[in-house]
Amino acid sequence: MEKLVVEGGHRLSGTVQISGAKNSALPILAATLLTDEKCVIKNVPRLSDISLMREILDTLGTTSRRDATGAIRTQPVSTDNVFAPYDLVSRMRASICVLGPLLAKRGRARISMPGGCVIGVRPVELHIKGMEALGATVELHHGDIVASGKLRGTHIYLGGAFGSSVTGTANILMAAVLAEGKTVIDSAACEPEVDDLCRMLIKMGAKIEGAGTPKLVIHGVEKLSGCEHEIIPDRIEATTFVFASAMTPASDVILEGVNPEHLGAVLDVLNKMGIKITQPKTNAMRVRAPKNLKPADIVTLPFPGFPTDSQALAMSALSVADGLSIITERIYPDRFMHIPEMNRLGARIRKEGGGAIIGGVENLYGAPVQASDLRAAAGLVIAGLAAKSVTEVNNAHYIDRGYENIEEKLRGLGAKISREKMIPRRRKSDAAA
Ligand code: EPU
Repeated sequence: MEKLVVEGGHRLSGTVQISGAKNSALPILAATLLTDEKCVIKNVPRLSDISLMREILDTLGTTSRRDATGAIRTQPVSTDNVFAPYDLVSRMRASICVLGPLLAKRGRARISMPGGCVIGVRPVELHIKGMEALGATVELHHGDIVASGKLRGTHIYLGGAFGSSVTGTANILMAAVLAEGKTVIDSAACEPEVDDLCRMLIKMGAKIEGAGTPKLVIHGVEKLSGCEHEIIPDRIEATTFVFASAMTPASDVILEGVNPEHLGAVLDVLNKMGIKITQPKTNAMRVRAPKNLKPADIVTLPFPGFPTDSQALAMSALSVADGLSIITERIYPDRFMHIPEMNRLGARIRKEGGGAIIGGVENLYGAPVQASDLRAAAGLVIAGLAAKSVTEVNNAHYIDRGYENIEEKLRGLGAKISREKMIPRRRKSDAAA
């Protein structure tokens, strides 16, 4: 186990390249199961979640390699295996994205049921509802979702208690592209990552109307071909660097390889917080830290609303704003495990139902903290960049799930950050032995 050691208070300046979007790349890699031909996927970030998805695809008969340009080249090999086992699925919920492609292409799938996780309960009933509506028989056998049947186009309403489902939409979309006839998905997720998947499937020969809107109309085709596709920029990684730059003194950072169109709600919050953003050229953003950050109220919502994945990052910045802010979490009401850790750094944050009240403080002070999930880890790292003295963010493996070369990128901007082995804490009983 490793920790990230951050010495706070250093100005960030220079240029950082934003990587491809993890949450686009995962379903897009799963979509390569839909074809017997090779695919070339460019701008795939180097992350542990991506390695895991490649491992899963490997067991299901699609091998892959990174070529000299960094692109992932997939190569289908013949196999009967349609089983994604618990030891792989339990490490990453997005593994469920292989359900739709397997069912559509091979007529059956067996995927271990993903469990809950620290950010919330995270059910998958919308995925199952969609597959059943398409005509599949879906049963739960000893903790595995076992699905089979010939898929036929239908009308599916996919809204849930917390809005649309991102991977649920991706899964049903990937099933519907090879189903017989026309499928309509109402209340589809509109996240840019779903739109990216639509664009990739269309290149493969799928017939999809309404990409990027809540109504997707899919006319099933018999076969899909291989394709070449470039993943969109990671809007959450971009937000991470924006908030990091905004909360460290006198910082001036240019982010390259971003798509500001994916960041509307975030830009609105940045504006309220007095953070100046300019666009020096297409697909670039310049962030200059203001003298003082203003407070802001944020509600997380499905796209185009403020993303839940940026909530912990915004909270870090708001913890040093001049006044009181409120964050309301509408996607994962329990996604607040970072609050006690932020308070260890001197923040004044109180969880209140599905929200948090943040009283801005003048300074954060370095301390050892525990990361509980990917975005909590990132929020704590950027808090450490602004804090006085040294912050140790334990459980660095969480950050490796979603941030490519985070230390190198931050060091390139002037941050002082390193990775060290975590020394296991000795319990009293150990000490006595
Ligand atoms: N939901 C249901 N039933 C379902 C599915 C979802 O009630 O069958 C609920 C969830 O519990 C949640 C809401 O609907 O309250 C939205 O969940 P969604 O299904 O959209 O989440 P997801 O597809 O499992 C993706 C991202 C998450 C991101 C969420 C929300 C990927 C691989 N993961 O998850 O990303 O938080 O959408 O935007 O795309 C991250 O990158 O750190 C991360 C957790």
